[in-house]
Amino acid sequence: MRTIEWRDDGTVITIDQTRLPNEEVMIELRSCREVASAIKDMKMRGAPLIGVAAAYGLALTAYHSEARDREKLLEELEESARLLRMTRPTAVNLFWAIDRVMKRAYWTAGGCEAVRKAVIEEAKRMADEDVEVNRRIGMHGSKLIDDGDRILTHCNAGSLATVDYGTALAVVRAAWEEGKRISVFADETRPKLQGARLTTYELMRDGIPVTLITDNMAGYLMSRGMIDKVVVGADRIVRDAVINKIGTYTVAVLAYTHGIPFYVAAPKSTFDLKRTSEEVTIEERDPREVTHIMSQRIAPEGVRVLNPAFDITPIDYVTAIICEEGVITRDQFKRLTERSGS
Ligand code: MRU
Repeated sequence: MRTIEWRDDGTVITIDQTRLPNEEVMIELRSCREVASAIKDMKMRGAPLIGVAAAYGLALTAYHSEARDREKLLEELEESARLLRMTRPTAVNLFWAIDRVMKRAYWTAGGCEAVRKAVIEEAKRMADEDVEVNRRIGMHGSKLIDDGDRILTHCNAGSLATVDYGTALAVVRAAWEEGKRISVFADETRPKLQGARLTTYELMRDGIPVTLITDNMAGYLMSRGMIDKVVVGADRIVRDAVINKIGTYTVAVLAYTHGIPFYVAAPKSTFDLKRTSEEVTIEERDPREVTHIMSQRIAPEGVRVLNPAFDITPIDYVTAIICEEGVITRDQFKRLTERSGS
C-alpha cells in the first residue's frame, strides 16, 4: 500500500508514523484541519509526503465545501492553504505543493464544480507523480552504487517519507532490485528516531540488510572502513547548501574527512534555488522531544534544551545530488546556481 491514499468518499488514509514500528495504525483524515494536525504532530512526515498530504488537505476542503460559487470556494481554499503553511516551515515541498494546487484552482475556468474537480485531480496527480519521480531517482542513483557497498543513511528518506519507494532509499531499493549485494547502516536519528523506528522497519520488510547504529557511531564505523557511501534525503536544497534532518551535517563532515562519497537524493520539488541557507527557517520543536524518549523522561526537569529539527550542510561537502533528471555533481550544481542568478 502507498503511504497516503485518497478515497472517493472524501477521506485520506495514511499510516500513523508516530506509532511505528510497534503498531501499524491506519488513520482516516476527513478535513484539511485534520491533515494539518497530522503533519504538525509528525503522523505524516518527510518532505515529499508532507507536500502530497498538503495537496490532499486542499482536496478535502474542495470535496467537503458547501460553497455554491467559485469565489467562495477559492476563499475556503486560501484559508486551508494558510493553515497548512503554518504546520512545518523547513521542507519546501510543502509550499511547492500548496502553490501548485492553488495555481491550478485559480487557472481553472468555470464555476465551483470545475474548480472542485480540478483541485482533487491535481492532488491525485501529484501523488502519482511522486512515485514515478522516486523510481527515476532510484534508477539514476543506483548507477553510483557498487556491488557490496555498505551505505549509511540518516533519518528516514524511504517509502514512509514519500508516497512510495522513497528518495535515498529509492537508490538503495533500485540497487538491490538490480541484484547488487548491498547493506545499509541506519543512524537512529535522535530525537524522533526516524532511523531506528522507520528506516529499519521498511528495509526489514523489504528484506534489505540493515544494521541500526546510534548517531554517535558513524565516525567510528567510517574510521574502520565500514562505510562505502552515504545517501541521505533533503528537505530543501538551496543555492549554497542542503538542508536535512538534524545530524546530516555531522555525517557529511565525517564523510568528507574520510573520503567517502556523500550523496543527496531528492526530487526537483525540494530545490529552492532562489534562496540561500540564510533565508530558510529551521524548525525548532518541542523540548520534550529531547528530554524524553518515547514518553520516558531522561533529563532533569527544568533543564535548558535546544531542539532544531534540521541542519545545513554546505554544498562543498556534497559529492552529488540525485534527482529525477539524473545525477548533478557538486561542480555542476555550482554552475547551475551561478547561471540561475540570485
Ligand atoms: O522531521 P522529518 O521526519 O519530516 O524529517 C525528514 C527528513 O529530514 C528527511 O530526510 C527528508 O524529508 C527527506 S524525505 C524523502
